[in-house]
Amino acid sequence: MKKEPAAITQTNPYIPHEVTIENIKKEVPGDRAIKTFRLLFNEDSIQKGFTFKPGQCAMVSLLGTGECMFAISSSPTRPGYIEVSVLRLGKVTARLHEREAGDRLAVRGPYGNGFPVESWEGKNILCIGGGIGQAPLRSLINYVLDNRSKYGRLDVIYGARASSDLCYREELLEMEKQENVGVHLSIDREEDGWDRFVGFVPDNLKRLKPSPENTIAITCGPPIMIKFVIVNLGALGFKDTDIFTTLEMRMKCGIGKCGRCNIGNTYVCIDGPVFSWDQLKDLKGEM
Ligand code: FES
Repeated sequence: MKKEPAAITQTNPYIPHEVTIENIKKEVPGDRAIKTFRLLFNEDSIQKGFTFKPGQCAMVSLLGTGECMFAISSSPTRPGYIEVSVLRLGKVTARLHEREAGDRLAVRGPYGNGFPVESWEGKNILCIGGGIGQAPLRSLINYVLDNRSKYGRLDVIYGARASSDLCYREELLEMEKQENVGVHLSIDREEDGWDRFVGFVPDNLKRLKPSPENTIAITCGPPIMIKFVIVNLGALGFKDTDIFTTLEMRMKCGIGKCGRCNIGNTYVCIDGPVFSWDQLKDLKGEM
């Protein structure tokens, strides 16, 4: 008797989904350019199998070049596509930056645990990001905005070196017009025409003094920023169990094979990339 092939599901991390670049948005210019790619699942792909949570990652493949792991920066509440924001840093990301709308790529995933958004329902959400670290937070932010009645106040503290380095700037400025939403942008150094905070993200947090009451704080960005954000959150009275971060930048294979994501004995791709500070602080190793 002919054997039926095994069912293909989103949990199979080896199955590539064919996607087409629907559009590309230039977020940041210059040496460390960032572009956001909207990848549309093709009709004949197994798109229905690709469901994800904010905070999860996807592997994007370019035939003949290689593949790279990215945090998904779009929200699962907006289905049919995923978006990834790509910092041009190496060979694969440089080639990806050369691609145009209409080009085809492949996507595998999703990988990692994602943010525990269900357990945060009823709480205020405070996102604290720096640079390209805002990508996974953007997925969470849009998820919260699309499920507005399930969450309390939403605040976003986000900074970059210069105003031209801020990702998603227009949508953040649009977002802050909504009720019960605060957007607190910063840049590291003075700039003509900038009338918001000048200084580092942890200092903006210190200045704003958000209340820890019924609030979950999620931070993502450069390790040095995360370190001081966590110190400042602690000083404000946030409990370690209410502080979360994502270490998705450490993920390579995403499935526990390459051994490049470990912190002590913990594999970021297996147990994370999202961790509470309560979980992370006891790990033996460098974040
Ligand atoms: S990313 Fe390869 S083992 Fe975790």
